[in-house]
Amino acid sequence: MLDNFSSLQRSSRCAELSDADIGKTVTVMGWVHKRRDLGGLIFIDLRDVSGILQIVINPDTQPAFQKAERLRNEYVAAFKGVVRGRGEGNVNTQMKTGSIEVDASEVYLLADSEPLPVQLFDKSLPEEDLRLTYRYLDLRRPALQNTIIIRHQLMQAIRQYLNAKQFYEIETPILMKSTPEGARDYLVPSRIQPGKFYALPQSPQIFKQLLMISGFDRYYQIARCFRDEDLRADRQPEFTQLDLEMSFISMEEIFELMEGLMAHIFKEVLDYDLATPFPRLSYMEAMERFGCDKPDLRFGMELKDLTDIFGNTEFAVFRSALESGGVIKAISIPTAANYSRKQMDALVELARHQGGKGLAFVKYQSGAFEAGISKFITDKERDTVIQRLNAQDGDLIAFAADGFDMACKVLAAVRNQTAEELNLIPKDTFAMAWITDFPLFLYDEEAQRWEPAHHMFSLPKEEHIPWLDDPARIGDIQGQLYDMVCNGMELSSGSIRCHRYDIQKKIFDILGFAEEELKERFGFFLEALKYGTPPHGGIAPGLDRLVMILSNAASIRDVIAFPKTLKAADLMSGAPSEVADLQWKELHLKPVE
Ligand code: AMO
Ligand code: AMP
Repeated sequence: MLDNFSSLQRSSRCAELSDADIGKTVTVMGWVHKRRDLGGLIFIDLRDVSGILQIVINPDTQPAFQKAERLRNEYVAAFKGVVRGRGEGNVNTQMKTGSIEVDASEVYLLADSEPLPVQLFDKSLPEEDLRLTYRYLDLRRPALQNTIIIRHQLMQAIRQYLNAKQFYEIETPILMKSTPEGARDYLVPSRIQPGKFYALPQSPQIFKQLLMISGFDRYYQIARCFRDEDLRADRQPEFTQLDLEMSFISMEEIFELMEGLMAHIFKEVLDYDLATPFPRLSYMEAMERFGCDKPDLRFGMELKDLTDIFGNTEFAVFRSALESGGVIKAISIPTAANYSRKQMDALVELARHQGGKGLAFVKYQSGAFEAGISKFITDKERDTVIQRLNAQDGDLIAFAADGFDMACKVLAAVRNQTAEELNLIPKDTFAMAWITDFPLFLYDEEAQRWEPAHHMFSLPKEEHIPWLDDPARIGDIQGQLYDMVCNGMELSSGSIRCHRYDIQKKIFDILGFAEEELKERFGFFLEALKYGTPPHGGIAPGLDRLVMILSNAASIRDVIAFPKTLKAADLMSGAPSEVADLQWKELHLKPVE
C-alpha cells in the first residue's frame, strides 16, 4: 500500500543538510539506495540528485519501523525526523553528509520498484548496451548525473559570458535546406510537397552568416547539429555546438574572446585557472612536430625528421622510401627500451592500421643501439639520431619511412598510444592551443577535385586571394581558418568568412559547382552577399566534447543524457524504427525492393 503524497512537503534535498541543521525537524525524499538492518535498527541510505543521506529508524518508533521494514532498493520514500550528529567513531568521511543522520519518526512509501534489470551500483558496471536500453535507470548513477549537471553548468557559464559581451541568442531552423559541412545529410520528406525533402542542419553555418547580413552583429546559439557519418568515441549523429558569429571582427579578437570564454567556463565549472593566451601552432608546425593537426600538448615526444641523416643508408626499407620521395621520421619513446617483442609487434600493427607499411625500432641501451634495425645503422648515423631526438638511455626509438603525411599519421598514433601506455600524460591538466594557417583547399585524389579543408565559406588570407585565379597555386592558398584543440581533441573550428560575392563565387568555381547547381543549392546565399555584407567570422566549439574534457569522460555517450550507439541507434526507444504503411503513403514514399 502506497502512502498519499499530497499532505507531504519536502523541506530540503538529502545532501543539502549539514551539521548546521542538527536539531531541526526535516522531511526528505528520494530513492532507497541501500537498506541495512543492524542491531535492531534500520539504516537507509537515501539518495536524491544532491547525494546520499543516512536515515535511522528505531524499532520503538511505530508504525515508522514497520513501514521501513518493507522498503527495498530503489523504492521511493519520504522520511520526517530530526537531524542529529553521528558522534565520534560513526562519522563517514567519504560522504558529504557523513557526520549527520536523520532519526526518522515518520516513514512514507511513495512508490515501490521491481528489482532493477541492470545492476548500477555495484563495483563493475554492466555492459553499455544494457545500460543504454535502460538509460533512465543508468542516469540514476551519481557519476552520470554529475556529468549531466556539469553540462548544465557549462551552458549557464556560456550564456553568462556571452550575454555580457553583447551577443544575442537566436534560434535557426531545424527543417531547412541542406548545408554543406561535408557529411551526409539527414533528410525529412515533405508531406505537403510530394517528392521534396528538408535536410536537418549539419550546422547553422549559412543562417548565422545571414544573421550577420541582417545586422545582428553578434550571435550565438547552443545548436543541435545532425550529420549522417561514421561514428567514433567522440562523434554522435546528433550533437551540440556552441555556435558563434560576429561582425566587424578580426581573428585576433575572436581568439581573445574565446580564450576569455574558455577561462570563464573552466573557472565556473571546475574552479580551474586556465592559462591564457593559448599557444599557437601553424598547421605545418603541428604536423611536423606532432604528426597531426590536433596535437596533445600535455607531453613531449616530438617527431623529428631524419631524412637527411639517412642519405646513404643500407637499410632497404629506408632507401626505398627515400627513392620514392618519402621521408624518415622518428620519435623517441621514454623508458620503452624494455618493451617486449609483443608490445613492439602491437605498435607495428597500429602503424599498419593507420595505412603505414610498418614501423622500425632500435633500443637505446648502455650507450648503444640494440635490436631491431640497429645493425643497419652506422655509428655516425646513430650519434646524430640520438642528438636530434634528444634520446635518453633506456628509450625505444620508432622510425617511420613513408610519404610525409603517412609518416606523420603513423608516428602520431604511436606517440599517443605509447604515452598513454607508459602513463606519461599528466592528469588534470588542460593543454589548449590554436592551430592556424590551414590550407584552404585539399585535393581529393579519388574524386580528382578540390575540397574545402574546413567549409566553403572561409576567406583566404588577404595575400593569397590573387592565387584563386592561378590553378597552379590553389593548393598553396591558406585560409583564415583556426581550430582550438585541447588534450589531443579538436574542440572548435572556425574561420573569417568570405563577405565578398566575387571571392565566394571563385571558391565555388574552384570546388567545381556548375552554374545550375550553384543556383539551386546556394542561390539564396550568394544573392544575400550582394546586399551589403559586413566582414564577419565565427567559430563553433563542440559542446559535447567540451563536457568530455570538463568531466574527463572517455566516450561522448557519457556526456549526453540520451545518446545513440555507434550504429546510430537509440536502444531505449528503438529508434530508428519501421513506420506504418500509411506514413509511407502520406509522405509519397515507396520502399526499394
Ligand atoms: P565543424 O564541422 O568543424 O565546423 O564542427 C565544429 C565542432 O563541432 C564538433 N563536432 C562534433 N561533435 C560531436 N559529434 C560530431 N559528429 C561532430 N562533428 C563536429 C567538433 C568540431 O570542432 N559551421 C562550422 C563552424 C564555423 O566555421 O563556425 C562547423 O560546423 O568539436
Ligand atoms: P620488412 O622488410 O617488410 O620485413 O620490414 C623490416 C622492418 O621494417 C619491419 O620491422 C617493418 O615493420 C619495418 N618497416 C617496414 N616498412 C616500414 C616503413 N615504411 N617505415 C618504417 N619501418 C618499416
